[in-house]
Amino acid sequence: MANSDSNLPRLMKLAVLTRGNSNYHAGGWRLPDSYADAGSNFERWVELARKIESAKFDMLFVADAIGPLEFDRHHVFARSPNADRLEPLTLLSALSAVTKRLGLAATVATSYKPPYDLARQVASLDLISHGRAGWNIVTGVIPADAAQYGDEGHAPPAERYVRGEEYVDVVTALWASVEPDAFPRNKESGIYADPDKVHFINHKGKYYSVKGPLSVGPSPQGRPILIQAGQSDDGRALSSRVADVIFTAHSSFERAREFYSDVKQRAAAFGRDPEAVKILPGVMIIVGRTAKEAEEKQAQLNSWIDIVAGLARMQVGLPGIDLAQYPLDEPFPELPPAAMASRGINYVDMARRENLTLRQVVLRGAASNAHWIIKGTAVQIVDQLEHWFTGRAADGFNLLCSSLPAAIDDIIELVLPELRCRNLFRTEYEGRTLRENLGIPVAPIPRQRQNSAESCG
Ligand SMILES: Cc1cc2nc3c(=O)[nH]c(=O)nc-3n(C[C@H](O)[C@H](O)[C@H](O)COP(=O)(O)O)c2cc1C
Repeated sequence: MANSDSNLPRLMKLAVLTRGNSNYHAGGWRLPDSYADAGSNFERWVELARKIESAKFDMLFVADAIGPLEFDRHHVFARSPNADRLEPLTLLSALSAVTKRLGLAATVATSYKPPYDLARQVASLDLISHGRAGWNIVTGVIPADAAQYGDEGHAPPAERYVRGEEYVDVVTALWASVEPDAFPRNKESGIYADPDKVHFINHKGKYYSVKGPLSVGPSPQGRPILIQAGQSDDGRALSSRVADVIFTAHSSFERAREFYSDVKQRAAAFGRDPEAVKILPGVMIIVGRTAKEAEEKQAQLNSWIDIVAGLARMQVGLPGIDLAQYPLDEPFPELPPAAMASRGINYVDMARRENLTLRQVVLRGAASNAHWIIKGTAVQIVDQLEHWFTGRAADGFNLLCSSLPAAIDDIIELVLPELRCRNLFRTEYEGRTLRENLGIPVAPIPRQRQNSAESCG
């Protein structure tokens, strides 16, 4: 089962972060050899999944937004690679048939889909993939998505989290409603299912009323992997209670370490083993055989950024402010803190720390959406990753590929050998399921502190 033996060397966990259209950097799709069509071309994903599985990555993570982004702003819509993307659970189900060990995780927002449907779909992916499914719990950050559901669901952030907490409790209770040996399927006795091992959940909470049980067999990994990526106080409260894996977007070691230590302490306060919660900051790696080559790759990618589209991408993290009113080439403006979401705070933090102009911050945003960017030779890159890992700011990383396949090919060819040379990354999968490879045993999910819901799995 899961590998939590403290005598074994601590190895980095590595996920590959994609969006349903694959190139993370806004200019990445314009690179001559990039997959510009991955939003509609499944074969690109087969190639990518097989490639990262043979390199022994922990998981492929597919982030998501529901509708096309920025359709109300035609200049931006026309110039951003966000018009089409494959639905992540459908995509991952298909990829599970062409892979054997790679973890397969997707974002599904709690605001729009009934929890029974989500529980059923992710449990099905888990069975189809033989225990490799993960769910990234987001409460929904994109107001335009709500319009696809009669404008239901886009409540203020605090309320979205209260609802999200209950949602997760319903989903995990449904997953626990079918015990591992619930289906004897005994042809001689004629007993297909054991009713004593299948349970109603009888959940009646503030937002959801779900009787259960689930109509999908038990998980091959005990429970699908739960991922969460909120940085706010409410986000940390949810992730420290339920998440196996936590994604973050920090661009400084100090911020990342503060987050790491705070969330691990919160997890311990819930009675959880902090080592069984894996924190993976996002990082965009631009690697070259020389530092100059890496510099040139970044300059080329940045030359393809449309500044208006870049401003629009940043605007999601700064919903109360019209960034277009500020001069681009002057120091980053003073902004009212109340108008910022977590990602906006990251932008401001980065601007102040490095004394950047608005244009420079826009370029960073269009590249990595306020995630950490590192460039240089493999040795320079791995020095920094190792510093975050050994300095307890990270248990591994979520790799944002500026473009595909070039960025992942570079990482596999140049960065992984250096990580392996320093005994920081595996040479073979430890187990068969995602949970085994992450080294996260199944443990009961602690109850919310002030929980009014009747069932918590
Ligand atoms: C690595 C990473 C991936 C994320 N993926 C998604 C996503 O796919 N869809 C989405 O709507 N939000 C996504 N988010 C946003 C967060 O889940 C969260 O909603 C956001 O950080 C705001 O929450 P907070 O106010 O608690 O920080 C992601 C965040 C991070 C750091």
